[in-house]
Amino acid sequence: MSAIGLVEKTTAYFKDFKTWVALDSTNLSDGQQLAVKYFTVAVILFVAQILFGLLAATQFIWPGFLFEILDFNVNRMVHINAMIVWMLYGFIGSVYWLLEDESQTEIVGLKLGNIAFWVLTAAVTVVVLVYLLVQIGPGKDSSLWFINEGREYIEAPRWADIGIVVVMLIFFYNVVATFTKGKWSGIAGVLTLDLVALAGLYVAGMFYMTNITHEQYWWWWVIHLWVEATWEVLVGVIMAWSLMKLLGVRRKIVQTWLYIEVALMFGSGILGLGHHYFWIGTPEYWLTIGGFFSALEPIPLVAMVVHAVYDSGSHAFKNGNHPALAWVIAHAFGNFFGAGVWGFMHTLPQINMYTHGTQWSASHGHLAFFGAYATINIAFFYLAIQHWRGGVWMGEGTANAWRWKWAIGLLNVGVLGMTIAMLIAGYEQSFIERAVEGSTWGGYFTAQNHPSFQSAMVWRLLFGVVTAAGLGLLIWDLLTIGKGETRKAKVITQQ
Ligand code: HEM
Ligand code: HEM
Ligand SMILES: [Fe+2]
Repeated sequence: MSAIGLVEKTTAYFKDFKTWVALDSTNLSDGQQLAVKYFTVAVILFVAQILFGLLAATQFIWPGFLFEILDFNVNRMVHINAMIVWMLYGFIGSVYWLLEDESQTEIVGLKLGNIAFWVLTAAVTVVVLVYLLVQIGPGKDSSLWFINEGREYIEAPRWADIGIVVVMLIFFYNVVATFTKGKWSGIAGVLTLDLVALAGLYVAGMFYMTNITHEQYWWWWVIHLWVEATWEVLVGVIMAWSLMKLLGVRRKIVQTWLYIEVALMFGSGILGLGHHYFWIGTPEYWLTIGGFFSALEPIPLVAMVVHAVYDSGSHAFKNGNHPALAWVIAHAFGNFFGAGVWGFMHTLPQINMYTHGTQWSASHGHLAFFGAYATINIAFFYLAIQHWRGGVWMGEGTANAWRWKWAIGLLNVGVLGMTIAMLIAGYEQSFIERAVEGSTWGGYFTAQNHPSFQSAMVWRLLFGVVTAAGLGLLIWDLLTIGKGETRKAKVITQQ
């Protein structure tokens, strides 16, 4: 086929696709149109995350699979980097989504926001292509600048790091300037302070140090202080706003809860950082500080469950967007179990000595990231699609409701299944490699070759396929839910 033929065919395909989804963008405000751009890229990167997770999981079982073409380290890197980036896209989208509504004015720097979106997306594309096509470089500064920085989760090369900081500054300007032009609120204040911390912490992961202890010390400022402090507060803000919109919970109530949660979250999460300083060469006092404060971290997560469930119950679950509410509830529980319970299990140094760096950590990592952050993003995708369709009814009696129900079911069963498989593997590793064989090299291989470890890896892959099926169904549902629906959702007023 000639190049022109190909272009024509692709254009025709997109036209058909547009007619098929039949979404009308005039239903969205400017800020919301920018938000759905972010959501779209988020979903695409979510798909990439799952595909590369499946490849990495396959290589656990058949180590020769794609050997020297797409090695495990590359697949794993793309898997977790895609996750961080899609969640950040989702968060930025969610903030742009609620910005105009919360500030009661139009977004200030729309043009700048759009430019930043395209710059970021182009940069992400280049970074992923370099990950896949170049993969590694010589041990020189140039590799750090152009290939990857080698810091787990935030491997992006330095040029992209700087770009990300600039894009975040534009985003921050948009948020602050819009609230200043319009109206500040408690939610707006918490959001702004949190964004300062979130963007500031990223810088802690940008400097190269020759001492591995120093390197890890600062790297954890980004990783831990993001997911256990600033991201938690950000989702607190997002959840507070969605509970008002979905259920009509009073502003006074959600804001009071938000302040309590923020205090507890920062109070425990900041020094909870110490649970990563047990064995990296930092002073011994971190054993006590890390153990004590991180053990307190589940408290705000319990508060969040109480908050979400109480509000939903007291409003009799009455609302016009069932899938969004279901995902908000999944978030409250997922955060509590994945971060709170699964995190608590291995956070005391006496236990972590045995579980550190085993599949136990991966088990917790999956349930926490999915339960706390994938869920709330998906809830927002459903809020967005409802408006995009013109604020149609998505409550009781929605057509094809089986799709969102099966999607939420498959995704949760899939991730929970993987979590349990990895927990079994981690338990076996802690027991055989650490406790029985005393962390020896031989012990490592005994644990890796144990039948319970190996079958757990097969179960992880099988449940991974269930997760992937759930994601496929979710996307189908997001594209079609509410299509042809003529009933409008009642506008929820605060009671
Ligand atoms: C949503 C919040 C959370 C997320 C997304 C999360 C995610 C993760 C991830 C991905 C890791 C593995 C890091 C690595 O690659 O080495 C990890 C490690 C760890 N997490 Fe969390 N976590 C969260 C909350 C918590 C909480 C609340 C606790 C404690 C109560 C906790 C305790 C731990 C501990 C002790 C480790 C170290 C495991 C090891 O020694 O290998 N986490 N977390
Ligand atoms: C098809 C589904 C998935 C499969 C097959 C899969 C597989 C894997 C594999 C094989 C690893 C490497 C583990 C290791 O190094 O020992 C990994 C790491 C990881 N995955 Fe997944 N994954 C899937 C979905 C997800 C989802 C939905 C999330 C969260 C939203 C997630 C978050 C993570 C994290 C945070 C790590 C790093 C864990 C650590 O450092 O301990 N994955 N995944
Ligand atoms: Fe942590």
